[in-house]
Formats: sequence, C-alpha cells, structure tokens
Amino acid sequence: MPSTGLDPHRIRQDFPIFQNNKNLIYLDSTATSQKPVQVIEAVAEFYRKMNANVHRGVYEISVEATEAYENARKKVAEFIGARSSREIVFVRNTTEALNLAAYSLGLHRVKPGGKIVLTMMEHHSNIVPWQLIAKINRLKTEYIPFDDQGYLDLSDADKKLKDADIFSFTHASNVLGTINDAKMLCRMAHEHGALAIVDAAQSVPHMPVNVQEMGCDLLAFSGHKMLGPTGIGVLYGRRELLEEMEPFQGGGEMIKEVHLDHSLWNDVPWKFEAGTPNIAGAVGLGAAIDYLRGIGMENVREHEHRLTAKALEILSEIRHAKIYGPENPLHRCGLVSFNLADIHPHDLATYLDKHGICVRAGHHCAMPIHTHLGISATTRASFYIYNTEEELEVFRDALLQALKTFRIQ
Ligand code: ALA
Repeated sequence: MPSTGLDPHRIRQDFPIFQNNKNLIYLDSTATSQKPVQVIEAVAEFYRKMNANVHRGVYEISVEATEAYENARKKVAEFIGARSSREIVFVRNTTEALNLAAYSLGLHRVKPGGKIVLTMMEHHSNIVPWQLIAKINRLKTEYIPFDDQGYLDLSDADKKLKDADIFSFTHASNVLGTINDAKMLCRMAHEHGALAIVDAAQSVPHMPVNVQEMGCDLLAFSGHKMLGPTGIGVLYGRRELLEEMEPFQGGGEMIKEVHLDHSLWNDVPWKFEAGTPNIAGAVGLGAAIDYLRGIGMENVREHEHRLTAKALEILSEIRHAKIYGPENPLHRCGLVSFNLADIHPHDLATYLDKHGICVRAGHHCAMPIHTHLGISATTRASFYIYNTEEELEVFRDALLQALKTFRIQ
C-alpha cells in the first residue's frame, strides 16, 4: 500500500497524553479520542482571555466569547458541508442530538401510530430515545437486520419502510465497523416519504462527510470522538426542517418572547440551545476541526484503512480469534471487534492493560448487535491518527501471549 500524507509519529508529538504515559498504546478512540495540545490550549486560552457568557453581554469579552462560539459553529458547518452555520445546533454529544430528534419529531411531528425504522446495528443512543417516545406517542418501531458478514440486509427494507415517518440509522457501526451507504439509505427513506436521520458518531471524526451530498435531514456527532473536548456535540439539520421542529428543552436564550401563558421561540439554531451552552467546548471543537483539516480527512481515512487492514490480517492469523464485521477493510471504519477463544473480553482487556494496551470490552452500548450475533461481549480495538503499525505489532504479541497465559491450546 502506498504511504499516505499522514505521519502518526509526528502527530503523536502534539498529544501530551503520550508524553505523560510513555508506553501507552491507546486503541480505544471509538469510545473517546485523545486531545492535541492545540485543542487543550484553545480551551485554556478561552478561559484565560475571554471567558464570559454568550449572546447576553454588551461588554467586550462577552462579544469576543460570542464571536468565538459562533465562529466554531461556522467551522463545523464548513467541515460537514452544511449550507450555513444556521444548520448547526450545539448539543452535549451524539446521544443528546438523537434525543432532541426523537423528542421533537417523535412527539410533535409523527402522529400516534406512526412508524420509526431503525437498524439492528444501532448504538443504544439511536434505539432508546425512540423507544421512550414510542411509548408516549404509541409509535411502532421496526428494525432492519444485518447479515453474517455484518452488512445491512435490505431484502425486506421496502416493506419495513412502507409508511415509515422516520428512518434513523448509523453511518458506521461502533461494533461491526461496517460503513453503511448513507446516501443510498437516505434516498430509500425519502422514496418512502420518511425523514432520514444519521448517527455519524463514528464517521464524521474519521472520513470526509458532506451532508448535502449524503442528502440527510438530520445528522448527529460528538466532539470528544474527533479530538475535541467532552460535553460538546452537534446536530446538523436541514434548515427548513429545523424551522418546523419544536424545541426539545426550554429556558433562557431559546426564546424571542416569554409571556405568562405562552412563549415565542428564537430563530434556529438558538431555538434548540436552552441555557448557557458549552462555550469553551465549542471553541475546542473548532480547534479540533482546524487540526483535522490541516491533516486532511482523506488522509485520516487512508491511515485508518491501512491500520484496520493490518489489524484484520493480524487477527486472522491468530488461532482462536473470531472477528466480527465485514472482511473487506474498505467497507469498515477504523475498528475491529473480536473474541479470543473463550477468554472473557473483560479478562482479555485487563490482560492487555498490563501491556499498556487500552481496548474496550463488553457490549459497547450495542446489546442488540451482540444478541443478534449470539454472544454477550466482544473486545474492540479502534484506531485514529496517532496510532502506528508498530503498536499493532505489540498488540499481536500481547494476544499471542494471552493465549499462552490463559492456556488455550
Ligand atoms: N459509543 C462509544 C463506544 O462505542 C462510547 O465506545
């Protein structure tokens, strides 16, 4: 494979976590990514130089804080190809974005008896909010399954999508690694008159994503998985749809007028941002976007593809390793979930930790995937711009040693 424009050894120098933990092999970026000094400094600088509330003060630092916050919104809009920053709502994380979508649309737009279609490869955050609303508004839920290879099985999809109000699906699975054809799925939703909602938590940080090309109505992702701070996330919404949607939370700043018996909402996107937002978090996310754009999302994708291909090769050569998800690394995002003989994933993850290797073990907030696979847990290694091929070799040696330690013949 030709080398890419991304040098993980150089990139690592920007991440203080690796200087402070010399032998750390961090293979859990699907859960949360590490932060470069540029992001840490942007957050610190905001607090040092201009900390004030936004949209409220007329004094200088408040105006600066507002500019910094709104400038971050512009960066997000450009990063995902939105038509304007008015289509970007700041939220806490993907989970909050999907709860906003479920409450606003599921309560106020979808009529009782309406239908929500999801897939069986969703994270809990794209299942549970819909279940909560389905119970209140008596909605039906249908699930599109996945096959043995980890691809969506669309053979019955037309039937399931018939009369659907909403089709909400993951762009990339946090367990199987499958990258779904989001453009095609959005088209299918629209052909059936349904809104298309995309959980992009595992795609926006790792590959070029353009919401206009994709054709989604709403799209959700988190800042902390893309080098940004925790507590800041994004709901992109097609402007016309956001205008029609009812707010999710009420409070300060989301209103134009408040009377004792009714209120009028602010314009989008502020209508959805009740209370003091995570201003420093948004500024940090803006810095994370600058950092990723400096590398180039094509290069990020190419680097992760290379690491994923190598991880798949390593695991396929290890006796007793069972890999889940598509065999073709081109169809996967940068993660591999697996099991090693009958070693419990928690035991394996604890063992790997002794070698300085951080992986996630368990159901990864996706119990239905594991139920569908007939297992209760997996071990997951996931990759980002700072991971190297050398780290994967240490990972392989540790797995081989684990087989000996756990006396697997
Ligand atoms: N969704 C995150 C993960 O898969 C937390 O680990």
